[in-house]
Amino acid sequence: MLLKIDKVSKIYGEGDNSVIALDNISLDFNAGEFVAVMGSSGSGKTTLLNCISSIDKPTKGNIYFGERNLLKMNDDELSEYRAKHISFIFQNYNLITNLSVYENIILPLQILGKSIKENQNNIEKVMEELGISKLKSKFPNQLSGGQQQRVATARAIANSTDILIADEPTGALDSSNSENLMKLFKDLNKKLGLSIFMVTHDPLAAKFSSKVIYLSDGKVIDILMKYKNESEYEFLEKIIEKQKSIDEGVI
Ligand SMILES: Nc1ncnc2c1ncn2[C@@H]1O[C@H](COP(=O)(O)OP(=O)(O)O)[C@@H](O)[C@H]1O
Ligand SMILES: [Mg+2]
Repeated sequence: MLLKIDKVSKIYGEGDNSVIALDNISLDFNAGEFVAVMGSSGSGKTTLLNCISSIDKPTKGNIYFGERNLLKMNDDELSEYRAKHISFIFQNYNLITNLSVYENIILPLQILGKSIKENQNNIEKVMEELGISKLKSKFPNQLSGGQQQRVATARAIANSTDILIADEPTGALDSSNSENLMKLFKDLNKKLGLSIFMVTHDPLAAKFSSKVIYLSDGKVIDILMKYKNESEYEFLEKIIEKQKSIDEGVI
């Protein structure tokens, strides 16, 4: 087991103003899974990702990374967990404005003290695959939203870790760039065994995953599995069908 989410609740605020963002969620994730999390705005998707990546702390429950309980780790242990095992792609990119594209991408490697030279081939390959090689010396404010998203993605995957966490990674991309990014995710998942947790609104992105988890009001209301012999197209049809029944209040 890679991650075990055990009866996790997250409550923001207190008393009359409190919001239950996660309501007693339990989920198990194996290494190598590609999981999509879907659900309407405010259903707790970002909170769930933030708890997994230890940016946020559950109010109740436990999260295990292998045998280790994130809630029992001290700040140093949590920083190490984040640095060594987790890559993020944030909803708002979080690029550093006074660093160039290339400097942004190599920053996590530098922070971890990893050799840029040894990782150079991988860095170049990732930039090539994301179509941002020519933007190397540009600064974030000279890029479009879609380009910034691709730089943030390159930064996350150039530093190879165990788990990629992405909050709406295709949110700012047009359909062809979205598809390229999802194909890259799928490739990283298949070839490197990278485990992926991705929040998305888009069934066309979710169809690349192997499991879709539906959240509503902080609860898991459904899980769709992609079977081995199922094509992406068949899985997409299931995802769209499920979305319809959720919207119509059938489940
Ligand atoms: N820092 C916060 N303080 C107070 N309420 C929050 C905070 N972050 C999220 N919430 C609330 O928790 C609920 C879930 O939010 P979020 O996880 O961001 O949902 P989603 O990503 O699915 O849109 C929402 O009602 C949101 O307003
Ligand atoms: Mg969100």
